[in-house]
Amino acid sequence: MPDASAQALAATYRQRWAVETMAVAPHDRLLEIGCGRGVAVSLVASRLVTGRIVAIDRAATMTRLATERNASHIRSGTAEIRLAEFESADLPTRYFTKIFAVNVNLFWLGAATRQIHRMRNLLAPGGRLYVFGERPTSAHPVANVTSTERLLRAQGFSTTRSMEVRGQGRVLTCITATPTS
Ligand SMILES: C[S@@+](CC[C@H](N)C(=O)[O-])C[C@H]1O[C@@H](n2cnc3c(N)ncnc32)[C@H](O)[C@@H]1O
Repeated sequence: MPDASAQALAATYRQRWAVETMAVAPHDRLLEIGCGRGVAVSLVASRLVTGRIVAIDRAATMTRLATERNASHIRSGTAEIRLAEFESADLPTRYFTKIFAVNVNLFWLGAATRQIHRMRNLLAPGGRLYVFGERPTSAHPVANVTSTERLLRAQGFSTTRSMEVRGQGRVLTCITATPTS
């Protein structure tokens, strides 16, 4: 089993960018929706002291891989990986200081109104939602970001966006959303 630093080195650029962008603090309580293999979970958990990350994914293969990757963080109580669909997962309301998703299509496929309403209820006062994406060209990100921002604003969030162009024209995007009241 590779140690934590070897796992961190193997993390993909977009997940490192996501974790840097969120400026994870030692006391944060985070929810990751669609954690995949749990690379971001490892990066986040390494920064936590009193905080905690709950990561969910609806694919059993992904939660198994994420659980294996994060065994030490799970043992210490810093990370929890759950096989669950966001829409029906049993999660505490007004608890999470940061909720995030990296490359999860629920934000740009159809109307995620119900899901975004739920995210708002799960955020602690002062909490923020981060929607990250990576696309192969600059054409799609702008359309995706614009439609996701529209959706978030309609659900009572104010939003800011940031983008970074990687090699070969790949684009990383982040929408940071804060409840307006
Ligand atoms: C493209 S993968 C991205 C994985 C990882 N975040 C990354 O950046 O590599 C999207 C993941 O989100 C999960 N997912 C999509 N919709 C979901 C939902 N509504 N609830 C839980 N997991 C979901 C999928 O099972 C999949 O593992």
